[in-house]
Amino acid sequence: MKKLLTLFSLLSLTCFAFGQGNNYVQNYTKYEGLALTPPMGWNSWNKFACNVDENLIKSIADAMVSSGMKDAGYTYINIDDCWHGDRDSLGFIHPDPKRFPSGMKALADYIHSKGLKIGIYSDAGSQTCGGRPGSRGYEFQDAMTYAAWGIDYLKYDWCNTEGLKAEGAYKTITAALRRAGRPIVLSICEWGNDKPWEWGKTVGHLWRTTGDIYNCFDCIEDHGTWKSFGTMQILDMQDGLRKYAGPGHWNDPDMLEVGNGKLTPREDRAHFTMWAMLAAPLIAGNDIRNMDKETVEVLTNKDIIAINQDSLGIQGFKHTSVDSLQTWLKPLKGGDWAICFLNRSKSEKVVSLDWKKVIIQDSLSGKELNGQTSTYTLKNLWTKKKTGTTKKPFSTKVPARDVVVLRLELIK
Ligand code: GLA
Repeated sequence: MKKLLTLFSLLSLTCFAFGQGNNYVQNYTKYEGLALTPPMGWNSWNKFACNVDENLIKSIADAMVSSGMKDAGYTYINIDDCWHGDRDSLGFIHPDPKRFPSGMKALADYIHSKGLKIGIYSDAGSQTCGGRPGSRGYEFQDAMTYAAWGIDYLKYDWCNTEGLKAEGAYKTITAALRRAGRPIVLSICEWGNDKPWEWGKTVGHLWRTTGDIYNCFDCIEDHGTWKSFGTMQILDMQDGLRKYAGPGHWNDPDMLEVGNGKLTPREDRAHFTMWAMLAAPLIAGNDIRNMDKETVEVLTNKDIIAINQDSLGIQGFKHTSVDSLQTWLKPLKGGDWAICFLNRSKSEKVVSLDWKKVIIQDSLSGKELNGQTSTYTLKNLWTKKKTGTTKKPFSTKVPARDVVVLRLELIK
């Protein structure tokens, strides 16, 4: 009788276990509540390309803290392409044993011990863009592996994806991440080919809107079969996309080139400011272990970062564009606004305006900047000078390839 009972309970347990498995319904929607403001961090690709290893990543995590970047809000340390070794006989992916001899779990523990988070990179296709193993066919297994390592952020690329459709492929990795059970930010990287802004909101937390950034202010680099784009080209390619962004789902105009040596300090400043105005992810792409003073000042400008990280999460917009001088606006919490004058030309420009004549309605957010009925204090976010209120007319020089950006704080 005892034996019979045991057999019976074993059988029912097995049925229960199978039942659980069979009843699991895939969840093709991302984890909510992550990236409520644009993600901030660092990524290895722009500076180091395939030259990544655990010592580099650990020293970058150290520098994130010692440089003040962590205090300024940067959180993610993201390893891009080429960390991979081979899959084993059971299909599990392993990091390159020469470059990451301590393994990814140890690296994740190290990064977490600094109060930071770790990101990793894979690809929806058979191979990554750098020719390493992709996740196609291994999505659930890879997601479980990343979760077991303690990964917090996954950038998922789009090379070697013949026969796949983007929306379905990204939904598969989302379902896999869900199944793995760890909240992981999903960065969709299919370069805007299949309009991810139209379907990405429930699938990922950010989506690349363009091809790769190129380290120049204003140029296009032709690589033969593909092109990469300077900061101003990428800026222009954001037209029409702002309505798709908001808390938890961001347009991603690619990682920063600030501090990578090709842009002048003014161009770096303009690049960083425009990414802030766009509510873009702020993912530094330079060697943060060796930064000059100007680079640190740009990347850790807390006033500019506050524009980017504003809790309303409204992407800024271009208001006017005349002779390479553009005016951009971004509604902020509490009735505040950011106004940015971007001079794209190679000669200085002058801006003059009478705030009393300024009435700007943003139909998308329903916010209004009204210099007639409201008064705002003005703060220049690069010079840090408070320059009076909107009661008086305003005039400023905007140097070549530079910005003047003000925060207008509503006097209540
Ligand atoms: C693609 C991506 C880049 C980078 C490389 C890595 O080009 O768009 O951001 O991840 O692949 O190979």
